[in-house]
Amino acid sequence: MSKTRITVAKGDGIGPEIMDATLRILEAAGAELEYDYIDIGEKVYLSGNTAGITPESWDTLRKNKIFLKAPITTPQGGGYKSLNVTIRKSLGLFANVRPCKSHAPFIESKHPMMDTVIVRENEEDLYAGIEHRQTTDVYQCLKLVSIPGTRKIIRYAFEYAKVYGRKKVTCMVKDNIMKITDGLYSEVFREIAAEYPEIESELRIIDIGAALLADHPEMFDVVVTLNLYGDIISDIAAQITGSVGLGGSSNIGKGFAMFEAVHGSAPDISGKDMANPSGLLSGAILMLEHLGQLKAAEKISNAWRKTIEEGIHTADIYNQATSKQKVGTKAFADAIIERLGQRPNQFAPVEMNVDRFRPIEVEEYTRPKAEKVLMGSDLFIDDPEISADGLGEKLSALAGPDLKLKMITNRGVKVYPDGLPETFCTDHWRCRFVHKDNPKDVKQMKPVEKGAIPALMSKLLESGVDVVKTENLYYFDGELGFSLGQGE
Ligand code: NAI
Ligand code: MG
Repeated sequence: MSKTRITVAKGDGIGPEIMDATLRILEAAGAELEYDYIDIGEKVYLSGNTAGITPESWDTLRKNKIFLKAPITTPQGGGYKSLNVTIRKSLGLFANVRPCKSHAPFIESKHPMMDTVIVRENEEDLYAGIEHRQTTDVYQCLKLVSIPGTRKIIRYAFEYAKVYGRKKVTCMVKDNIMKITDGLYSEVFREIAAEYPEIESELRIIDIGAALLADHPEMFDVVVTLNLYGDIISDIAAQITGSVGLGGSSNIGKGFAMFEAVHGSAPDISGKDMANPSGLLSGAILMLEHLGQLKAAEKISNAWRKTIEEGIHTADIYNQATSKQKVGTKAFADAIIERLGQRPNQFAPVEMNVDRFRPIEVEEYTRPKAEKVLMGSDLFIDDPEISADGLGEKLSALAGPDLKLKMITNRGVKVYPDGLPETFCTDHWRCRFVHKDNPKDVKQMKPVEKGAIPALMSKLLESGVDVVKTENLYYFDGELGFSLGQGE
């Protein structure tokens, strides 16, 4: 087998110690790897590079495509961008995969049976970072969810389940509230799940899903979800295994992938030969699997298990009941290396199914063209003074000749016409304009001319109405492309 050249960053704090331990184990296990080292993190940030990574390092990353990364320290204070977010977005690493497994009884866990993999969408959702203040009162963050992004992550989750012999995929969303964005997830999930009849599939609402995950994690096998929910539940899942320090994760894109530990740079124990290298080693095992170096991955997994069940533990997992020997980073790595080739007796040995195993591919997305028809527009208006009825009457008078004001909502609640005096209002009004002859039924709306909306906006401008934003209302292939106001 020819060696794969990967990029390695030793990072900050305990990074160099756990990376050295990990690379020694990889070497001893016969991993077919060669390394290019890059500097990232604190030193680079403090040299005035706010991205924490130099252009030369980018070249190396792009050339090798596979990245094993130790944790870095993000300096406190303004201006420093999260390197992880930058790398994920720049290299299109759309899937964050975090296996969360208990190692009871040797490592204490309230959930000894837990063995769950969280697959988190990594590029979209509220993490697009598009935020605006629109009025004195109101701030906004855009939640962007795309069809290709959703298809990729859900396909990845099912392919992952198939390759790893997992039985069930659960999708967690809040589609009862966000019917359009989260609704896209449930729709795509149902569609793709149907192509995998051998894998059980279920949809759950994220709030109760997260609660169940915290209480009965053994109910969950693979969980796939949007970026923000995934951020939260992947931390919950790692925490309740009982050993957040042992987790690794992968960030997967088309051609590119990054592997790392879940934990940070632990400056409090840095340089003391105390750190547990298991988190980064788990990341490295995921990398070997990704590269198809299954024998080496299996060998290391089994030697690690053997070491743990023999009670050879670093300080962070040392306990009276099952630990026999407290060791430092180097000695822990040595213990694993000594056991390469052995299988655990009490833990189930890891066996990679070579036949089933193949690189996980996700489909190329070809966009079917949707027929889009303009049905009106929501104009967001900054008005601190006026009452809902006052604003409603004023805008109704200005709306003609082509359009009419259908309703006004304030933070999503309908306040005009027929609002309740009790509804609390801010200075941020969403005013929905539609064709002047529209029937009540939103499925029978009449198309409006494109020019009608800018014409209305100029008229509003002349009358001193402050429009801060517009969102057009479309039908796509005859389906509503917008949500209804509460009470509409
Ligand atoms: P942390 O994960 O570094 O440390 C939390 C606690 O866990 C500390 O008490 C630490 O000693 C312990 N710990 C962590 N890893 C350990 C290991 N391998 N063995 C034994 N004990 C371990 O989180 P913290 O303190 O919030 O962050 C420290 C720095 O790490 C910050 O600058 C933060 O920005 C950075 N960080 C970097 C990440 C990355 O590069 N992916 C992820 C999370 C944090
Ligand atoms: Mg997080």
